[in-house]
Parts: sequence; structure tokens; C-alpha cells
Amino acid sequence: MNICVENLSFRYPNGVLALQGVSLEIASGEQVAIIGQNGAGKTTLVKHLNGLLQPTEGRVLIGDWDTRKYSVAKLAQRVGYVFQNPDEQLFTKTVAEEIAFGPRNLGYSKERLQTLVEDALQLTQLQAMRSANPYDLSPTWRKMVAIASILAMDTPILIFDEPTTGQDAASVGRLATIIAELKQRGKTVITITHDIDFCAENFGRVIVMGNGQVLLDGSAKEVLGQEAILAQTFVDPPQITRLGLRLGLTEVVCTPQEFLDVFETQCAA
Ligand SMILES: Nc1ncnc2c1ncn2[C@@H]1O[C@H](COP(=O)(O)OP(=O)(O)OP(=O)(O)O)[C@@H](O)[C@H]1O
Ligand SMILES: [Mg+2]
Repeated sequence: MNICVENLSFRYPNGVLALQGVSLEIASGEQVAIIGQNGAGKTTLVKHLNGLLQPTEGRVLIGDWDTRKYSVAKLAQRVGYVFQNPDEQLFTKTVAEEIAFGPRNLGYSKERLQTLVEDALQLTQLQAMRSANPYDLSPTWRKMVAIASILAMDTPILIFDEPTTGQDAASVGRLATIIAELKQRGKTVITITHDIDFCAENFGRVIVMGNGQVLLDGSAKEVLGQEAILAQTFVDPPQITRLGLRLGLTEVVCTPQEFLDVFETQCAA
């Protein structure tokens, strides 16, 4: 299911112009990272994809649905959104109930509901915590509950708003595994992150936002080597990318493995 954002501008009621003429297309099954400084408009953009915000100008299509014509509840069949702050999202007494809430609302059968909840518990490694109250869990695991509750909705499109913030290495590793699994399943995944290494290692496409606009949009290699433009929105390329640029490698490298591959080939030449 393709996403099409056409000339989207958005002004908050207080007058802040948070998006200015944003246009982009995301094809079915793509894994996209959105990066950029605080206040760049990243959250405002993704809240347009599930109808939480409506365009001041322009339009957003989710498949053949114009978000202006569909309710948030209806759009939830197509787009799952994990909030930046999980506490805005969690409200039931147990982890399992929390995870079942979304798919139950979508009207799935009892059997499908059960399968989806078990699958989400397993993907997020929350099985042992199924009966816990989400508010008794650490913030790291609360974030996993928020993620599981969206995974269980089995939407073709999933949006994670800063899933890595405040997470330890084990949790970031779990997230990478979840994203890889979603890719296998053909899901579209859009992830906002300030973790540039996480971005480089897990996403083929990177969109860079600054001041309510798209500054760069392309493959990780095309985008992460553009130090000057990234600096406009206070993003540093990954350290390994900067090292490669300083060493004059012929190719932009985004991960340690890519660095080693290019370095060895160049040394051998
Ligand atoms: N509810 C709101 N009312 C008014 N202005 C807002 C609101 N939410 C965000 N803004 C403003 O809109 C602009 C874009 O904010 P947004 O939250 O989309 O940025 P962001 O890129 O997600 O930032 P962060 O990395 O800090 O989450 C900012 O100037 C912000 O102050
Ligand atoms: Mg944000």
C-alpha cells in the first residue's frame, strides 16, 4: 500500500508553521528512517499519515484513501502509530489486554486476535510480562508494550516515533530484530530516530527534515555522506561515515561492515 504526501503544509492553531510544502512517496514494503533536529516537523508529518492531524494545505493518500475523508479509527486499519511517549498510549491494566485492545477494535475474529497477540508478545519478548501492569514495567519495557500493541493490529504500514530514545543496547537490538522481521513480512516501516547509527544500520532509505521541509531523501549512502546539508538540521553523519570521508574512500560507507569492505578493496587496488 503506497503512501503519497502531496505539497503538505500544516499550521498549528498557535500559528507555528510546522510543515511547508512536503511532498514524498513511500512504496509498499519500504523501510524509511526520518531524521532531523528537534522541532523539524517529523512528528507533525507522521501524525498526518494516520489522520491525527489534517493538512492545512495539500493532501495525504494512504493507498487510495485521502486522509481528509477518513476517520482516525478507519485509518487505523492501514496505519499503526507508536507514539513518541508510550504513556500517551497505554491505559489498560495488563500487558496482554493492552496489546489486544487495538486488534479487538479492528473487529478481528477471536482466533485471529489470539494469534496476533501471541505473535506481538513473542516479537517484543514480552511473554513473561503478559499479566503485568504496564505501569509497573520500566520505561524500556513500557515502550515495548506500546510497540506490541501496534504490531498486533497487523496493519500494512507501521510508524515508530523515536523508538530508540532512552532505550538500552538490548532494547535497541530487539527493535532492529522487529524491524527486520517486519521487512520480511512485506510491511512498510517508517521510523523517526535521533540515533544515526540505528538509522544507518536498519534503513535503506533516509528522509532528512529541517524547518518543516524535506532537505534530503534517498538511500542511506546518498544521504548520510552529505555533511553540509545534514549540519543545517544539526545531524552528524555516523562516525564511520565521517572517517570514510576523511580517508578519501571512493564510496560513502554507513556501517562498519561497509567500511571494511570498501577499505579492503581500496587497499588491495
Ligand atoms: N501541539 C502543538 N502546538 C503548537 N506547536 C507545536 C505543537 N506540536 C509541535 N509544535 C511545533 O511544531 C514544530 C514541529 O514540531 P514536531 O513535534 O513535529 O517536531 P519533531 O521533528 O518531531 O521534533 P522532536 O525531535 O523534538 O520530536 C515545532 O516548532 C514545534 O514546537
Ligand atoms: Mg517528534
